[in-house]
Amino acid sequence: MSSSTSQKPVQVGLLGIGTVGGGTFAVLRRNQAEIRRRAGRGIEISMVADLNIERAREVAGDGVTVVSDARQIIANPDIDVVVELIGGYGVAKALVLEAIAAGKHVVTANKALLAVHGTEIFAAARAKGVIVAFEAAVAGGIPIIKSLREGLTANQIQWVAGIINGTTNFILSEMRDKGLDFDVVLKEAQRLGYAEADPTFDIEGVDAAHKVTLMSAIAFGVPVQFDKAHVEGITKLSATDIKYAEQMGYRIKLLGIARRQANGIELRVHPTLVPMRSLIANVEGAMNAVMVQGDAVGTTLYYGKGAGAEPTASAVVADLVDIARLLDAAPAARVPSLAFQPDELSAMPILPIEEVVTAFYLRLRVADQTGVLAKITGILAEQDVSIDAVIQREADEVSGEGGNQTDLIILTHDTKEGRMNQALAQVQALPTVLAPIVRLRKEELA
Ligand code: HSE
Repeated sequence: MSSSTSQKPVQVGLLGIGTVGGGTFAVLRRNQAEIRRRAGRGIEISMVADLNIERAREVAGDGVTVVSDARQIIANPDIDVVVELIGGYGVAKALVLEAIAAGKHVVTANKALLAVHGTEIFAAARAKGVIVAFEAAVAGGIPIIKSLREGLTANQIQWVAGIINGTTNFILSEMRDKGLDFDVVLKEAQRLGYAEADPTFDIEGVDAAHKVTLMSAIAFGVPVQFDKAHVEGITKLSATDIKYAEQMGYRIKLLGIARRQANGIELRVHPTLVPMRSLIANVEGAMNAVMVQGDAVGTTLYYGKGAGAEPTASAVVADLVDIARLLDAAPAARVPSLAFQPDELSAMPILPIEEVVTAFYLRLRVADQTGVLAKITGILAEQDVSIDAVIQREADEVSGEGGNQTDLIILTHDTKEGRMNQALAQVQALPTVLAPIVRLRKEELA
């Protein structure tokens, strides 16, 4: 054995041992010899805290101290790293801050906690000289944090766009495949265990917004600002729009997008039309994928499982290996948590959604009369909204409501959202526009 691999193993305490905790045990046990060769020392989970002691004992096995009080782990001077797998902002936040204050390094999969309270947590870690690592918080097993922070560090990153919520991607794939509406597919996804009993954070886009907030900070060197993100989920999406989008060569995906503009940063989550032939349009089911555009590298794509016991454990253990390698290094020698040196963060603002520039898909239910299309395109032209394509579909094809109404589907070129809002307010007020206009954003990601 070399002198480096004979160093004292890193001692880890797990807070919470659900699915990911179980996966972390399994991966560390199965691959311990290779992990030790990579890390230069062993990595041992020596304590676990969980309210369900019986289950925790079963998963952890012999030789691991199981406690119900997480603070016993934080208070143990032999523990080097605390892995927080509790989730949420409540007790998890208190425990992470206490662990940092006790001088422990922290590994967490908690995107909600870091997207909302990251500034406070990273500052506390810096003051104490400890690491807060969070690869598992974004896109599960895909090493997107390390890629953005280290692999792409030469680049000025222009945008990041990802399918970063498996539940909603599963639902959208099913809606498209089977032509079903959202509510029906959600119930089926819950029955199959793809969606949680309370799926609010997933279907309303909040989980994706937490993740894209973390990526925006690392990509652009700005603080985490979840409160400034524009967040729309998929609950209002209809099978009709998925079908029309297909007819125009697009698929609809829930994307988290962070883009650099001259005057600020776009930070948004919403259903988005993407070209059907693009790789990201073909990411189906519960899979995740993230595209990153850098000025030097061009467009890159990262694909894999965004959740699950071992994919997430893969990220947790990678963070543990990083910490094991750096345990004796001076804090200044470490890669900064958010990629940029903490005193070099930019004050570039997160832009309000009205300032976002994107193309649009519009669906208008209109009276099938002479001059209706001309009136609508006239209003769009007055607002400088340029049209890319128009199709007309008889309303009775989709709704059985008779031949005196029609659906107009319009794709526009890029325009500022505020301008589009003004145009659509005027169009909606026309007496020949018979229902609320459906408006979705479209990205070419080229
Ligand atoms: N609920 C998430 C998803 C996984 O559906 O992708 C954890 O963030």
